[in-house]
Amino acid sequence: AALTSFGAAADTYPQRPITMIVPFAAGGPTDVVARIVAEPMSRALGQQVVVENVTGAGGTTGITRGAQAAPDGYTIMVGHMGTHGAAPALFKGLKYDPATSFDPIGFLGGVPILIVAKKDFPAKDFKGFIEAVKAGGPKINQAHAGVGSVSHSTGVLFDSQVGVKPTLVTYRGTGPAMNDLMAGQVDFMADQIVNVGPQIAGGTIKAYAIATPERAPSLPDVPTTKEAGLPGYEVSAWNAVFAPKGLPADVKAKLVAAVEAALNDPIATKRLTELGSNIPKADERGPAALQKLVESEVARWTPVLRSAVESNQ
Ligand code: MLT
Repeated sequence: AALTSFGAAADTYPQRPITMIVPFAAGGPTDVVARIVAEPMSRALGQQVVVENVTGAGGTTGITRGAQAAPDGYTIMVGHMGTHGAAPALFKGLKYDPATSFDPIGFLGGVPILIVAKKDFPAKDFKGFIEAVKAGGPKINQAHAGVGSVSHSTGVLFDSQVGVKPTLVTYRGTGPAMNDLMAGQVDFMADQIVNVGPQIAGGTIKAYAIATPERAPSLPDVPTTKEAGLPGYEVSAWNAVFAPKGLPADVKAKLVAAVEAALNDPIATKRLTELGSNIPKADERGPAALQKLVESEVARWTPVLRSAVESNQ
């Protein structure tokens, strides 16, 4: 009897902490969102969900590691519009396929993109900013988190749309890029509201425009790109939880329920909302909706980014 009950317990997932790979530096937007949802996920699963930052190659290093991990539910990852939307357009030898290498677990929400600059950047509005970046050429430094990241892909899209060629400076995440932007060591970047919102509110950086159809409730003074004169530049990022392909059905069901629990957790949703991340609606949640999103994002971004990167060369 003792043996039987031991066997039953050992079969019950999860028996030990779960590693959640964040493919960018600690303190950046992916990390912040991951840590907010890890808490209620841990409670739902009865085991700690431990964030591990595995950085490099625009997030593809960490996601490759996650894709190749055992599909036992003890390794999951947070992917985003870069790693699971943009990267296939930009890496020939990508070791994972966003649409087939994963069991999608759950969408964590859309995240607006803003064009932000160091606080003493002289231009007073978005039009003046674009003129200054044009005039400055390679003397202007644009930060990003590696080829294939959100800040890189939305950043080069901006550059190609307005016809500017700044010097691109690579970081292991926009957390460290933000530190250099606040210190005035780089001039600007395209980055997620989760990372830039608190700094804009605190006056340590400047926001020129938000690339969404409507202004963000948390940043009512920041004009949309449309209002500011660049209506064609509307882009949005998103985050989601993935597992390596091949999870046992019961393990997958528990992880899906844990993400759902996080999206229903009042503290987590309040923090995400305050940071400007949009809590997914009912029909955006769950593995099937996420699978569709990934496929449509790869299809949408591949042609756009290939031509943007070519036109920037
Ligand atoms: C981060 O967490 O550093 C960002 O998501 C990186 C990016 O994709 O721009």
